[in-house]
Parts: sequence; C-alpha cells; structure tokens
Amino acid sequence: MQLDEALGLITEIPDFPEPGVLFRDLSPLFAHGDGFAAVTDALAATVEPDVELLAAVEARGFMLAAAVGYARGLGVVLVRKPGKLPLVAGRVHYELEYGTAALELPEKVVHAGARVAVVDDVLATGGTVNAACRLLEDAGATVAGVSVVLELAALDGRSALGGRKVSSLQIA
Ligand code: PRP
Repeated sequence: MQLDEALGLITEIPDFPEPGVLFRDLSPLFAHGDGFAAVTDALAATVEPDVELLAAVEARGFMLAAAVGYARGLGVVLVRKPGKLPLVAGRVHYELEYGTAALELPEKVVHAGARVAVVDDVLATGGTVNAACRLLEDAGATVAGVSVVLELAALDGRSALGGRKVSSLQIA
C-alpha cells in the first residue's frame, strides 16, 4: 500500500475527548495490515542510522515504536503514564491540548550518552513529546530525533520541541 493511502485511513472525530477538539483516530490504520506496514516502513526510514534506542510514548506510541524497532533492529524504552513503573528514573509534568498529564521513565534502561529517537503517533502541542525528550535528556541521553505519523501544524508542536529534529509523515 502507498503511504498516502495508508495515511488516509486515519479518521477525524469531532468533539473528542471534549467539545472543540478534533481527534485523530489511528485505530483504522493500526488495524490494517498493509497500511500499518507502510507507515512503519516510512517511520523507520526517518530514524537516523546512529540511533541506539527508541523511546515510545504511551499508549499509541508503543504500537509504532515496537514496529519500527523490529524493522530497524532497535530496542524500545517505554515512556509511561504515572503509576505503571516500579522503578522510576524521573517524572515530568506537562500541559496537553486538553488537560494536564505526566510521564515517567524507567530506571536503568537509558544510559548516559545514548542516542535515542522518540516515536509517537501525533504531534499536537508538543507537550507530550517534549516531556519525553526532557526525561531522556535528564537521564543523560541525546535525543537524536522525533518521529511522528501526524503533525498538527496549527498547534505548533515544533516550537515546543525547540531545535530538536522532527520528522512527520503527514502535516495537517
Ligand atoms: C496523544 C497522542 C500524543 C499526544 C499529542 O496521547 O498519542 O502522545 O496526545 O498531544 P500533544 O502534542 O499536545 O502533547 P494521549 O495521551 O492523549 O493518548 P494515548 O495514551 O491514547 O496515546
């Protein structure tokens, strides 16, 4: 399947999770074998050759990072919502497009100096991915890049990420 066709499987759901928010639902894409493969291959191609580890943002980022990790022969560190990890290296609180949230990094998984690429489904305000980047950098890692399927340009997530390299398969 061509990448454009695969990306066309993403659907827009108005007023979810609250009025005024246009939710991008990747469920039909994840459920489509050829579509998921096309997006995985394209996302895998955005990861720099010197990357040693992928960081996946809960929850939809887990799907994508696992697939990209397999495609590229890379392991994945799970950046999780609070209360899931028994051993926590750090926690960062951040603002979402709707509400506030926090993310945690597991202990003893990311070593100082590691070159890590962050993988997620959607870059909206950038708060989520920026929090993941801060956790990794606090652990001494270098964020080599951020790879997302869909970037919502109007919310300017790139600015929230400072000068970090961002690759998106689609800008809406
Ligand atoms: C969604 C999405 C991104 C984030 C993007 O996660 O998967 O991680 O929001 O928004 P931002 O750029 O404004 O931070 P969410 O936690 O809503 O849901 P999920 O657990 O289903 O992935």
